[in-house]
Formats: sequence, C-alpha cells, structure tokens
Amino acid sequence: MTPLILAIESSCDDTSAAVISGGKVVSNITATQSIHEKYGGVIPELASRKHNIHILPVIEEALQEANVSKMDLDAIAFTRGPGLLGSLLVGVMTAKSMALALDIPLIEVHHMRAHIMAHFIDDPVPEFPFICLTVSGGHTQLVRVDSPENMTLLGTTIDDAAGEAFDKIGKMLGLPYPAGPEIDKLAQKGSPIYEFSKARIPSYDYSFSGLKTSVLYDLKKRLGEDPEFLDHQLENVCASVQTNIVDVLLRRLEQACKDQNITHLALAGGVSANSQLRSSFQEMCKKNGWNGFIPAFQYCTDNAGMIAMTAHFQYLNSDFSDQSVSPKARWGI
Ligand code: KG4
Ligand code: ZN
Repeated sequence: MTPLILAIESSCDDTSAAVISGGKVVSNITATQSIHEKYGGVIPELASRKHNIHILPVIEEALQEANVSKMDLDAIAFTRGPGLLGSLLVGVMTAKSMALALDIPLIEVHHMRAHIMAHFIDDPVPEFPFICLTVSGGHTQLVRVDSPENMTLLGTTIDDAAGEAFDKIGKMLGLPYPAGPEIDKLAQKGSPIYEFSKARIPSYDYSFSGLKTSVLYDLKKRLGEDPEFLDHQLENVCASVQTNIVDVLLRRLEQACKDQNITHLALAGGVSANSQLRSSFQEMCKKNGWNGFIPAFQYCTDNAGMIAMTAHFQYLNSDFSDQSVSPKARWGI
C-alpha cells in the first residue's frame, strides 16, 4: 500500500527505524544506549558515536520485519530536530544518502510534533481540536492541536523538563539514571506525606527548579537529623515528589482545556509512562466528562513509528525537503 515510507529517529540516545505502509506502522525497531547510565545523563559525543554503529543494522531490521525491499520505498523520513546536533546529524545524513541513492523524496519531521502524532498510530484517535501534554526528558509542552499541520504552543517549561526533574531528584536520592521509572516503582509502595514547593506561575508555563531546590534543602535537613532517613523514608519521599509533579502537570492541562472549551486531551512523551500520571489523567478526564488518550508504551518514548506517522501526513501534502536540508538542534513547534 502506498505510500511506503522508511522513517529514522536519532535525536537523543535511541536509534530507531520504522516502516509505514498506507498509514499503518508495520515495523518499529529501536536500539537503546546503556552507556549513558554510568554518567547519570546522556553524553552527546558518546550518543552520536553509538548512533553511527546502530543505524544501519536498525534500518535493516525494520525493513526485514516489514518484509519490504529498499527498492519499493516511496520516501525516506527523518527527525530534523529538535535534539542533540551530533545525534541528529547521523539520522539526517543516512536519510539523505538513501533518498539520493534510491531517487525518492525526503521528508523532514519535527520531533515534538511527532510525539503528538503518535496518537494516530493506533485506534482510538483523538478528535481535532485537542490539547496534548508532551512530557519527556528534554521537554514539557502544552500544545493545542487543530490539525496535523496546525499546532499552537500554549505553555512550556521555563527551566527543567518534567523528566529532567524526575532524573535530577532521583540522582539526589541515589537512584540510577534514568530515575523516572525508579521513582515510579518506589512511589507505589509509599505515601505522599512530605510537602515540597510548587511553582506559582500565572500562565500555562511550567517550572520545576523550585521543587528540586526544596527537595535538596529538605533532604539536607532531615539527613542532618537522621543519617538513616532515606533508608526508611525513600518510598514516601518518592511518592511525595511524584505527586507534586503530577499535580502541577495536570492542573495546567485541566485549566487549558476548560479555558479553551476542549474535551479531547492527550498525553505524550516518555514521562507519560508514569503510572500515577496515567491514572490521575484518566480520573481527571472522567470527572470532567472528557476523552483522554495515551499512546501504547512503545510509542510514548522516543521511537521512529511516530516519525513515520507524521511523515505519512506530510507525504499526502507533498511536504518534501531537498538535499540541502541540515539538522536543527533548536526548533520551535
Ligand atoms: O521521551 P523520552 O523517552 O526521551 C526524551 O527525553 O526525548 O523520555 C525520557 C524521560 C526520562 O527523563 C525518564 O526518566 C522519563 O522519561 N520516564 C519516566 C518514566 N518512564 C520514563 N518518568 C516518570 N515515570 C516513569 N515511569
Ligand atoms: Zn522525545
């Protein structure tokens, strides 16, 4: 079925390739990079070197799983940005080389728009207009989506992203990187008995630096009084941090939907894997009589399936790029 598109994602530390055929994602292969764990964060130079090693085998596997030959492809899509420049460069150059060799069009995809378009991979899909809260390691965005082409940024973080807040606070608590999933697991066994600071910003923007500082000072004080504090309170601290972040994230989303009279809303990005965020989001939708959408887990974190889905719509609009295209580390939505 046409169009048959190969999509490549390499914006951060995951190398991914997917094939989409007539609007259906038929393969989605991702190689993750564990090398960054020991550094407590992604090291850009190491990430781009690993992309170089992973990219061709990942593409090969995606084509094989989809049971298609390169010769049958109608277009090559790739993440142009935003992301780490060196990482993006690997995907951009691979896509350009393939499109040139196969003499087929190139489609440049915006990574943050693609996180939102992940909602169109599987049924049920949200109706336009909807509001999407995209929460990842690098971004926190509240976006009004009127069509695949027409998206408006309502709010964003003025400092740390939500995932970054999970990861940095997790580091203070001695948890391995990425700490988001660890905090999620530990929080399930604890209670949110500690109060940490919440940003009061009179807009749809987010800020998590106050929370980070408040946890840091609180921990210092409590560890001074009781050096074993975390041995018996780690689960309660995790539950308190997580509740704080989830409350802040959802309060703005709820307000935006009420203000704009929108009843379809969505979550996207790696942090949407968080169990409390998912359940509180569903509760909020139920309470207001709204329709809530969360993509399947494999399409929440970075993946080429979402790049392929976005590229499908762009192909239908003949939205192609030429060989002079270059990566864009910073790129507004
Ligand atoms: O979207 P993503 O895979 O990569 C980008 O940042 O683009 O998101 C990764 C982020 C990390 O900060 C990680 O800690 C967070 O998502 N994360 C979670 C959970 N799973 C992943 N945060 C909280 N709870 C989780 N279950
Ligand atoms: Zn992402």
